[in-house]
Amino acid sequence: MPKIIPVSTFDCVVFGATGDLTLRKLLPALYYRFRDGQIPGDSRIIAAARSALSDDDYCERATQALHEHVAREDLDPEVANRFCSRLSYVRLDAADPKADWSGLAHLLDPARVRVFYLATSPDLYGPICRNIGTKGLVTDNSRVVLEKPIGHDLASAREINDSVGRVFDEAQTFRIDHYLGKETVQNLLALRFANSIFERLWNADVIDHVQITVAETVGVEQRGGYYDHAGALRDMVQNHILQLMCLIAMEPPLSLDADRVRDEKLKVLRALRPIEPHEIGTLTVRGQYGPGAVESQPVPGYVADLDGPESSATETFVALKAEVRTWRWANVPFYLRTGKRLPRKVSEIVIQYRALPFSIFPAEAAEWQPNRLIIRLQPEEGMRLAMMTKDPGPGGLRLSPTALDIRFEKTFGMRFPDAYERLLMDIVRGNPTLFMRRDEVEAAWAWVEPLLQAWAGRPDHPRLYPAGSWGPTAAIALIERDGRTWLEDAG
Ligand SMILES: NC(=O)c1ccc[n+]([C@@H]2O[C@H](COP(=O)([O-])OP(=O)(O)OC[C@H]3O[C@@H](n4cnc5c(N)ncnc54)[C@H](OP(=O)(O)O)[C@@H]3O)[C@@H](O)[C@H]2O)c1
Repeated sequence: MPKIIPVSTFDCVVFGATGDLTLRKLLPALYYRFRDGQIPGDSRIIAAARSALSDDDYCERATQALHEHVAREDLDPEVANRFCSRLSYVRLDAADPKADWSGLAHLLDPARVRVFYLATSPDLYGPICRNIGTKGLVTDNSRVVLEKPIGHDLASAREINDSVGRVFDEAQTFRIDHYLGKETVQNLLALRFANSIFERLWNADVIDHVQITVAETVGVEQRGGYYDHAGALRDMVQNHILQLMCLIAMEPPLSLDADRVRDEKLKVLRALRPIEPHEIGTLTVRGQYGPGAVESQPVPGYVADLDGPESSATETFVALKAEVRTWRWANVPFYLRTGKRLPRKVSEIVIQYRALPFSIFPAEAAEWQPNRLIIRLQPEEGMRLAMMTKDPGPGGLRLSPTALDIRFEKTFGMRFPDAYERLLMDIVRGNPTLFMRRDEVEAAWAWVEPLLQAWAGRPDHPRLYPAGSWGPTAAIALIERDGRTWLEDAG
């Protein structure tokens, strides 16, 4: 068990404290850090929302959330009680400039680290920050946390960033992309920059292409209202997938200093070749799930899941071929793919190496597979290096693909903290390395926005795919046209 270093005592105000994110992710993450002694016992969590609740009501909701979202073996009732005693509830319409903030202001200690966590819809980020500013609640030791999505296009992202920036400095602003808090994602930095073998094999000379897949089995669930205005490109590609791509494609940063890492990620986003309108049909595929079966259970299609409109042109699946125009990545395509109602829940990055230049082995010795480094974010975070090895035994020289396989949880024999646990502690520590800087968010929108515009200008609807399949067949054609295959189809 690694040594746990406690963070400073803090006051954390969570706006949107009755919402899904707070109850499902933030409170359980804070509970774990509290249980493990990383959060000092006198820290406070101030829950704010408009609903009329007492401290006791909120404590009851929080306890129920812990029962639902903390593993049973990890939930200690005595610790949960102590944790709940650190919670207070404030009823507040935080976007209303006329609201009375005195109840909240009263609870804050000026000597402590102060965190304002905006777990509300993004259109409230500007108004809430304005109110925090006019009520005089920003101290030198304050931070504000913004959830994705930051806007729905470049202009709205800039507007949010401007409004927040009028109250908080960039160094106080923590834009969360929880993928960056995942253990494997940080291991990417270790893999590339703490091992001398990989970085030398991390370029167009040896890498054939890269695939990034973020596949979900779920549909839109309770979030249809949000999702139907967002779609897969905004919800997944603009943030999570492009961030993963940045970590794969970036040059070695000068140091681990937050701005040095973020400078390198920004260069990748700026090096992305814009997809031109005439290329939309060949370099992008958008799909929408129809009825089908996932994990052997019949499920309805997207429009039926929305429970409202009779039709929708929102994409629940995207596949793209992207190109990073740098010396390192010349002619190495990045195939990006995400979707809902796919056959398996999996997030993984595949680095596929080039085929052998020449083989001394007879063709019948093996079913050749190229070397692949597979970095798995979920489930079972880990890494696998697929390589050819000789079949054991004296029966002639036969070769088969085998894997060097590291599953982190098994290897280290410990529970892996959820991404939010690490990110919340980094916020209190004031370490922004794993958070997106304003220019990164805007550069990502600048690349994505023309795709949204080009799709909006086309008469065709997203291609329907049966729930439980790997998306429209056009997504298979997108990669097979180049003589390549998605990992699940590759032998
Ligand atoms: N849920 C997720 O898994 C997830 C994942 C990634 C990002 N996010 C992002 O996180 C944010 C929150 O998502 P969510 O799913 O938790 O949303 P949600 O379930 O709709 O919760 C929204 C929360 O905001 C509160 N609220 C609304 N207006 C308010 C106001 N004027 N003043 C104070 N509180 C107000 C609501 O409570 P009252 O109605 O009581 O005021 C509720 O607690 C969104 O930006 C979302 O995109 C969510």
